[in-house]
Amino acid sequence: MSRRAAPTEERYALQVYPARGITLVRGEGAIVEDDQGRRYIDCVAGIGVANVGHANPAVAAAVAEQAGRLTVCPGIFGNDQRAALMEKLVSIAPPGLERAFLCNSGAEAVEAALKFARAATGRAMVVSAMRSFHGRTMGALSATFKEAYRRPFAPLVPGFSFVPFNNVAKVRDAVSEDTAAVLLEPVQGEGGVRPADEGYLKAVRRICDETGALLVFDEVQTGFCRTGRMFACERHGVAPDMLCLAKAIAGGVPLGAVLAGDRVPSMPGRHGTTSAGSPLACAAALAAIRFMEQEGLAERAETLGAWLRERLAEMPGPGRARVRAVRQAGLMIGVELRERCRPYLTLLAERGVLALSAGPTVIRLLPPLVVTKEQLAQVARALAEVLTAGVSARPRPPHGPHVESAHR
Ligand SMILES: Cc1ncc(COP(=O)(O)O)c(C=O)c1O
Repeated sequence: MSRRAAPTEERYALQVYPARGITLVRGEGAIVEDDQGRRYIDCVAGIGVANVGHANPAVAAAVAEQAGRLTVCPGIFGNDQRAALMEKLVSIAPPGLERAFLCNSGAEAVEAALKFARAATGRAMVVSAMRSFHGRTMGALSATFKEAYRRPFAPLVPGFSFVPFNNVAKVRDAVSEDTAAVLLEPVQGEGGVRPADEGYLKAVRRICDETGALLVFDEVQTGFCRTGRMFACERHGVAPDMLCLAKAIAGGVPLGAVLAGDRVPSMPGRHGTTSAGSPLACAAALAAIRFMEQEGLAERAETLGAWLRERLAEMPGPGRARVRAVRQAGLMIGVELRERCRPYLTLLAERGVLALSAGPTVIRLLPPLVVTKEQLAQVARALAEVLTAGVSARPRPPHGPHVESAHR
């Protein structure tokens, strides 16, 4: 008797993603497993979401408990989990960010911050950076630099301009008394893992103060211990007027947030979204943030990231010759190649390592912050192997034992 074939996304999805041809069905810690039983060290982590690890038991227990109590509660009513999460977020935020708006994603957080900046200043212009990425909704996309993302959806929201990242003079030239906000990632993620230079964010803070523009940091990717601090801006000693958060905030349950200072007014009835800050997501976030603190994930990211960087620097000659630069902030690592990186992502997957690109030539590693040193050593070995062999050689080792032995 013939069995019905399992449904595939190729058949049913309206395709918007460049598909990798791997179907993931479970995960634990820094390991994910596909539908063929192959296991991978996951340096994608849901694109920087699974900081506390896949199937984190503390998050799973909090979700299960809350799912049996109350899952939804719109913002017109109060909720104990939401209040507790807002208090927690304010307590860990940079100074001056005393209130929170909750939403469901990074793009929604950026979108809200853009509206709040207009409402707060009565101005409409926004300055962001070249190579920036802020999301795919119309406002967030208008602040996103990459032409290939923007072009198909033009016309976008007017009033956005871009300055070269890490160039203070260009910010000074671009920001005026018509500027509502300067929007920056403290480490550009999608743009190639490019950290802000020392002093840059402080100088932009001063320019914003002089002109009355709001400073907005997008820490959707860098937040929640990824770069070796709870938030990447802490390293620079700069507090923004708004901080956009999402991705890792709730241990994998969709949630976003904007934390705002006192220049952002309350505006009842003027913004909102139905499912934002659901008790379910807030309970997950409380558990995830507690886990980050208890397990010292920021320190862990700092130490392991520096360690991995040293391993990558030891890469033997032929592989190293393909590397133009390694940039790293905690466990946010960009290996910039002298050639296109996509074929290497395939070769890495064949060796049991999932990795991302960040632009055409940068391999981006965003492992769960619970990843072990042994797993990272294996990632470094796999990278050295594929870069040493090069794309044309394309050796295909049998997949499986390579990773099996490393896990748990
Ligand atoms: C810095 C930054 N901002 C915003 C976003 C958009 O977040 P989301 O995909 O949750 O909408 C991303 C996503 O990668 C991001 O990296």
